[in-house]
Amino acid sequence: MSVALTMPKASAQATAIREAQSVCASQPSLLVAGLEKSYAGGATPVFNDVSFAISKGQSVAIIGANGTGKSTLLRCCLRLIEPDKGCVHIDGADLTAACKTRLRRMRSGVGFIFQKHNLVPRLAVLSNVMHGAIARRKGARCWFHGLAPAAEREYAMHCLEMVGLADLAARRADQLSGGQSQRVAIARSLMQKPSMIFADEPAASLDPHAGEEVMETFRSLSERTGMTLVFVSHQVAHAQRYADRVLGLRQGRLAIDVEAKALDTSILGAFYG
Ligand SMILES: Nc1ncnc2c1ncn2[C@@H]1O[C@H](COP(=O)(O)OP(=O)(O)OP(=O)(O)O)[C@@H](O)[C@H]1O
Ligand SMILES: [Mg+2]
Repeated sequence: MSVALTMPKASAQATAIREAQSVCASQPSLLVAGLEKSYAGGATPVFNDVSFAISKGQSVAIIGANGTGKSTLLRCCLRLIEPDKGCVHIDGADLTAACKTRLRRMRSGVGFIFQKHNLVPRLAVLSNVMHGAIARRKGARCWFHGLAPAAEREYAMHCLEMVGLADLAARRADQLSGGQSQRVAIARSLMQKPSMIFADEPAASLDPHAGEEVMETFRSLSERTGMTLVFVSHQVAHAQRYADRVLGLRQGRLAIDVEAKALDTSILGAFYG
């Protein structure tokens, strides 16, 4: 079933797409145009008329005070929450118009890292990484690394190497530190062979050192693979250090869209008030 979202006018949508796209030299990895979302009972939309485009390989931080809609925005970009208006394109394909099967396929091209890693505690690290292949391969063979086809197991090891944890493949997930668990969750998302990763406060529950390790893991992945990264963070230092560009949500609008190196105290002071 295709979901057609309402825009005030078709031409308004076309204009929003054109304007958002104009910041990218080539086809954007992610394009968001005129996006709006309200929750039932909410007096005003969480955000409205949000438009931006992210180039392939760019690393983008989304900042904003608690409750400004950062998580809602990320989820709307994959229709984990349905937006009310506007459209989202991933690698040029319209996700908002996609039917269920196509939506599933498009989502599988984007890794999603949450604040909580949700590993299966009693299973080995390698089995947990294998679970990332479930979107591509159904059935129990993905649940346990011992049952998985050799090629998948090798690829899971490769994903663990990419996050620097190959030596922990056989360890049970409940014997990892918080930072290691989050890096295993990143390896699990790499099993999807994503072209883009969304991360919602990936370092929020970690101590400063482990948080830096997780952010460094993202940096090294984007350097090695050229993948696009969109992460939400309350740590301005992470946005400055690990993003090329920073978007800031405030009072339902995109109030900041700047290069990370331009993010100074006067911008931040005005933004956070
Ligand atoms: N399922 C829901 N039903 C109703 N309202 C919701 C729901 N989820 C979030 N909200 C509301 O929408 C607004 C935005 O929430 P969201 O979680 O997206 O903000 P956020 O910027 O990610 O916040 P934080 O920085 O605390 O994670 C908040 O006012 C929140 O209370
Ligand atoms: Mg949030």
